Amino acid sequence: MPLITSKNMFQQAYASSYAIGAFNVNNMEIIQGIVDAAKEERSPLILQVSAGARKYANPVYLKKLVEAAVEDSDLPIVLHLDHGEDFEICKQCVDDGFTSVMIDASHHPLDENIAITRKVVEYAHAHGVVVEAELGRLAGIEDSVNVSEKDAAFTNPDEALEFVENTGVDSLAVAIGTSHGAYKFKGTPDLDFERLRAINKKLCGTPLVLHGASTVLPEFVDLCNQYGGTIPGAQGVPEEMIRKAAGLGVCKVNIDTDLRLAMTAAIRRELHENPSNFDPRKYLDPGRDAIKNMVRHKIKNVLGSNGLV
Ligand code: G3H
Ligand code: 13P
Ligand code: ZN
Repeated sequence: MPLITSKNMFQQAYASSYAIGAFNVNNMEIIQGIVDAAKEERSPLILQVSAGARKYANPVYLKKLVEAAVEDSDLPIVLHLDHGEDFEICKQCVDDGFTSVMIDASHHPLDENIAITRKVVEYAHAHGVVVEAELGRLAGIEDSVNVSEKDAAFTNPDEALEFVENTGVDSLAVAIGTSHGAYKFKGTPDLDFERLRAINKKLCGTPLVLHGASTVLPEFVDLCNQYGGTIPGAQGVPEEMIRKAAGLGVCKVNIDTDLRLAMTAAIRRELHENPSNFDPRKYLDPGRDAIKNMVRHKIKNVLGSNGLV
């Protein structure tokens, strides 16, 4: 099966209140771990590539690795650009055969965000590629300390409607209190579900996207810490909140940090327990297994996209 777009995937996810995992990929072991998990869980899949991943792995290598995954798995897979910062990188990815791109012009004023996004949509749609855009600013741990700051940073439901109508975008990433990385909340995790409900109602049918959706499971933080790391105070989005979001129009859930933690914990443990191991295959293999277990868990127990293909 060739790479596909997320159009039908999202329609079905929206109608049945589950979400598709969009997992960040940077190298062969990560891709293999994710794809093996999706194969075993019979789940559709989005593999996403950031500008940093393209720089690290070289766009040609990454593209060929994803092609290998498609050939090896026969799964419905979307190849997506994560956080494209301008028209040029989106165009490059469309030209390179990606089936989905994200234009992230969320740091620009609304009218500029609309103009940049519309330009990407025109180019991508002319080439059969779908587009995700972002409206609102993801919170950092220090951000949004009071209600009016939250209101300024989070996605406004009326603006969301104006944005979608004026850009023709296929899906919209919303800011409701999540953030990237391992440190998402200072105190009790809190997402603005009323806002999400209002956005979903206004957009009635446009698939929504949740960035910064890693859960940062304590057992992996503990494992990382136990074998020589220090990541104190790490805290992510509780799994029940991800499930709740999937029932409110969120069709795509972005996960990177949880993969990083799982892989790093496994490699640290291996090297700690077998300090004489200097064969990369023998420490990357447990890392790849850890990715696979984490992705299986997400698909089956959190996102609900198992058993579909
Ligand atoms: O949203 C960011 C993703 O976790 C990708 O991170 O830019 O370090 O590759 P990166
Ligand atoms: P996490 O850092 O929570 O995994 O979010 C990843 C993400 O949003 C990629 O775009
Ligand atoms: Zn993101």
